[in-house]
Amino acid sequence: MKAVVIGATSGIGRAIAKILAVNGYEVGITGRRMELLESLKTELKTKSYIKFMDLMQVGNTINAMKELLYEMGPVDLVVINSGTGYINENMEWYKDNETIGVNITGFTAIAFVVSKFFMKQGYGHIVGISSIAGIRGYADSSVYCASKSYVSTFLQGIRHKFVKERHNIAVTDIAPGFVDTALVRGHKFWVATPEKAAKQIFSAIKRKKRKAYITKRWRLIAWAIKLIPDSVFYFFSKMLIL
Ligand SMILES: NC(=O)c1ccc[n+]([C@@H]2O[C@H](COP(=O)([O-])OP(=O)(O)OC[C@H]3O[C@@H](n4cnc5c(N)ncnc54)[C@H](OP(=O)(O)O)[C@@H]3O)[C@@H](O)[C@H]2O)c1
Repeated sequence: MKAVVIGATSGIGRAIAKILAVNGYEVGITGRRMELLESLKTELKTKSYIKFMDLMQVGNTINAMKELLYEMGPVDLVVINSGTGYINENMEWYKDNETIGVNITGFTAIAFVVSKFFMKQGYGHIVGISSIAGIRGYADSSVYCASKSYVSTFLQGIRHKFVKERHNIAVTDIAPGFVDTALVRGHKFWVATPEKAAKQIFSAIKRKKRKAYITKRWRLIAWAIKLIPDSVFYFFSKMLIL
């Protein structure tokens, strides 16, 4: 079995790459911090493939993704994990330009390349990492929330396309709550370790689940976030950022 993890240098992506290798997958790993990819490669027991990818450079990303898939040959699974986000109280464009570039434009560019590759190959599994934050908008991270909402809606759309056109391609939307990584910058409320998150993500991948909340308790929170009135959500959202 072969898998690609986009954004495997740190946090959730790195933990996913490790658990895939432990379970026998050859793994393609990407990111900008090449030294972290090199160090991860030494930790993986199976064959691995390294590719530099900066999702802000969309043309280069498309080419690099095609090259990686070509080098690896048949590929069973692609996890599009790269993501970024900011608390952007002062609405500084450079911050959310990056969020849009990585979480929306880069994500979509990769998903299109992978979809076409899997259609030609005749099978495959695409996994995207959205977020609980994608359910509703938070005051100072509205772009991050919207970008994660996009990920979930996009994944639903391509799943329907694959069903409509009878492609044997599974699509899984992973919605984490809080995982202890650089992205959440020391947040302490209900955080899971990246290893625990990766274990549950791998379980969802094996079962080809359409949607999985990570950790599982966030399914209940997601249900509540969808149901409560906006004013109540506003009150509690001060605790729940990213
Ligand atoms: N941690 C949480 O609580 C949480 C909750 C919900 C959703 N998520 C989502 O989980 C995913 C992983 O995040 P994480 O928490 O593990 O944070 P992280 O440790 O900061 O990892 C982010 C990953 O994205 C990559 N990335 C960032 N900017 C990139 C760019 N311009 N081009 C290519 N890759 C880029 C990083 O690689 P390089 O910097 O090396 O390029 C890194 O591998 C993200 O999509 C995030 O939105 C996280």
